[in-house]
Amino acid sequence: MSIYKAKFSAFGSHAPAKVVNNFDLEKTMDTTDEWIRTRTGMFERHYCSEDEAASDLAIIAATNAIEASLVKYKDIDLIITGTVTGDHAFPATACIVQKKLGLKGVPAFDVSAGCSGFIYALDVAKTFVENGSAQNVLVMGVDVLTKITNWEDRGTCVLFGDGAGAAVVSRAQRNDISQIIDCLIQADGSQGDLLYQAAGGSRMPASHATVDKNLHTVYMEGNRIFKNAIRSMYSSTDELLKRNKMSAEDVDWVIPHQANLRIIEGLASKLRVPMEKVIVNIEKYGNTSSATIPLALDEATRSGKIRRGDVILLTAFGAGLTWGSLLARY
Ligand code: ACO
Repeated sequence: MSIYKAKFSAFGSHAPAKVVNNFDLEKTMDTTDEWIRTRTGMFERHYCSEDEAASDLAIIAATNAIEASLVKYKDIDLIITGTVTGDHAFPATACIVQKKLGLKGVPAFDVSAGCSGFIYALDVAKTFVENGSAQNVLVMGVDVLTKITNWEDRGTCVLFGDGAGAAVVSRAQRNDISQIIDCLIQADGSQGDLLYQAAGGSRMPASHATVDKNLHTVYMEGNRIFKNAIRSMYSSTDELLKRNKMSAEDVDWVIPHQANLRIIEGLASKLRVPMEKVIVNIEKYGNTSSATIPLALDEATRSGKIRRGDVILLTAFGAGLTWGSLLARY
């Protein structure tokens, strides 16, 4: 049993300035706006410049989230980043953000769960708040996939963009309408080779050969991932709703990972949720990995689409394979 309840205090996000649309891609590779739009729902994505890295995006998203909350900087007592494209293999990007925020002493670490990184990090934050170990957790989802994109693989390179999102997860007061109701995270490591970066770790350290063979970039079996994605996100949202004695009708907004519009529509159809209740911004950002959900949440809360008290259902799927869902009253 948890001692306390956790809630979302606020969200923030940031995408780099450079915008690349499908027509720009047409000029540099063998693809078409028509293929990308109909197969993925994407039109634009934001790319980091050469000197921009994950923490540069994350710090802006984090500052936006903290400023939008009633939480003071000095009251943040835990920092977690979901990312697979941090500034360095180590130290953690959360530590770099901690330094930039001037929060010396506050624990900070990264969570590696691919596109599910934000949901995984939220589950950790929720647990820390619920057991009294933390009161205000800064949770970020940031990825800069364009830095590890294989530009010779048209099946993947058109999909990715860069971005960051953040949430402040705080202890809820007794009379608070806002509350994180439940979270479920899962993984299947036996399918890890469907989506991975082969080189750069201890299995295959960087060498001239790994660079020549493009092994420091994303490898993805898109078709097999596609089917897994719908199945896993559906089973996880279904289980989460059932174990909280709720149905899809009780949910005001579904905020799914933005990897492919057809995956989102397939999930909505299985959940029997009309697309009007699904937050979609894939056309503007492409797949920003662990940043898609906090980017969408930040836009939808700031525009007033999602309001305090609304029931929100987040769900993600990514490398690992990992997947997870979170149910909350915003
Ligand atoms: N432009 C034009 N044609 C293309 C392109 C392109 N950019 N890419 C592939 N094609 C062609 C292929 O060559 C193929 O042609 P062929 O039939 O002549 O061989 C055809 O389009 C179909 O290719 P598929 O790979 O079967 O296309 P599919 O419909 O499966 O779409 C996609 C590919 C978009 C990648 C889809 O499979 C997908 O979205 N998968 C899931 C991705 C995902 O969710 N990943 C998890 C999160 S990502 C992360 O964690 C980092």
